Amino acid sequence: MLTLGIDTSCDDTSAAIVKDGCLILSNIVSSQTEIHKEFGGVVPEVAARKHLELIIPVIKKSLKQAKVSINQIDLIAITNGPGLITSLMVGIDTAKSLAYSLNKKIIAINHLKGHIYSNWLTLDNQYLISNIQFPILCLIVSGGHTELVLMKNHLKYQVIGQTRDDAAGEAFDKVAKLLNIGYPGGPIISKLADFGNNKAYNFTRPMLNSKDFDFSFSGLKTEIFRLTKERKKFNQQQINDICASFQKAVVDVLVSKTIQVAKKYQAKTIMLGGGVAANKLLRQTLQQKIKQENLISNIQFPISNFCSDNGAMIAAAAYQYAIARNKNFYSLQYKKIIPEPNLTL
Ligand code: KG4
Ligand code: ZN
Repeated sequence: MLTLGIDTSCDDTSAAIVKDGCLILSNIVSSQTEIHKEFGGVVPEVAARKHLELIIPVIKKSLKQAKVSINQIDLIAITNGPGLITSLMVGIDTAKSLAYSLNKKIIAINHLKGHIYSNWLTLDNQYLISNIQFPILCLIVSGGHTELVLMKNHLKYQVIGQTRDDAAGEAFDKVAKLLNIGYPGGPIISKLADFGNNKAYNFTRPMLNSKDFDFSFSGLKTEIFRLTKERKKFNQQQINDICASFQKAVVDVLVSKTIQVAKKYQAKTIMLGGGVAANKLLRQTLQQKIKQENLISNIQFPISNFCSDNGAMIAAAAYQYAIARNKNFYSLQYKKIIPEPNLTL
C-alpha cells in the first residue's frame, strides 16, 4: 500500500511516499528555517505564503524520488492539527484538491500521532521485522508539545503527563534567543553543550519531585532570563556552560518522569518522538537509566532525520488507521477535513 503523506503544520513543507506504513521511498522536507531565523521564531503569515509556493514542487519531488506516479498512490494522508491554522490550511486544501480531482482516498492525521508513528519508519528493506511491543510509553517532545503517552495497543492513546506551560523544544528555542545564539535553539544548544560544563550552573529541575507526571519549563527559562539581565555579557565558555547546564536540567526531568511512568505501567517499549527526540543527551541518558533501573522496557528511537516534522510520519500513522478500517475509506471524506489548530490526542 502506497501512501502520500503531507505535513504543513508549522514551518516545514513536507511530502513523502511510504510503503506499508514503514518503508520510506522518499521524504522531501523544504525547511523555512533560514527565513524565520531573523525573527527568532516562526512568523505564521510568512510560513503560510511559503507553503503555498513550495507545496506542489515538494509533492512532485517526493513522487519523482520514490519513482511512483500519483496514480499509483493508494491513500493521501494530511495533517489536520495541531499547528498554525494558516499553515495547516495550505496542506489540507492541496491534499483535498488532489483527492477530489484524482478520486483518491484521503485521511486526516493528528500531527502528534505522526510523531509517535515515526518510530515505525525505516529506510531498510527488512522493514517487516519489528520488535516494538505494547504497552508502549512514548515521550513526545517537540516545539509545541511535551507529552507522556501510554499506548496499550495501536491507535489507543492515554495521556499520562504533559507540560503545564512551555514545551521542551520551546524552552530550548527561548533560551537560545535569550543567549542570542540562533534559531532553532535545540540543535544549537546541544552542540555548544558539548563544550560546556553541565555543573557550572545549578538550574532547578522543575517538578522533578511532583507527585504527578506533568512538566513545567517556563521557570527554568525565567532563571536564564534573570541570569542574562544580571550579567548582560557572557564569553563563549560561559555560554557553553549555560547550554550544558540547561540541557542537563531539561533532560534530567524528562528522563526521570519517563522512567517513573514506564515502571508504573510496565511499559515494554519506551519511545521518543518530536524534534527534541534527536537530542543526543536525552537518548543516552534514557538508555543508561533503563539499564540502571533494570526496566523490562526496550528502547526505540525514530531515525534522527525523522524526529522533526516530516510527511513520512504522517503516512506511517495513516497506514495504521487504514488497516484498522480495513482500508475501507470514504473517498468523499475530504469534505470533513478542516484545520484543527488545537487538536489533542
Ligand atoms: O517536532 P518539531 O520539528 O516541530 C514541532 O512539531 O514543534 O520540533 C521542533 C523543536 C524545536 O523547538 C527545536 O529546537 C527542537 O525541536 N530540537 C531539538 C533538537 N533538534 C530539534 N531540541 C533539542 N536538541 C536537539 N538536538
Ligand atoms: Zn512536530
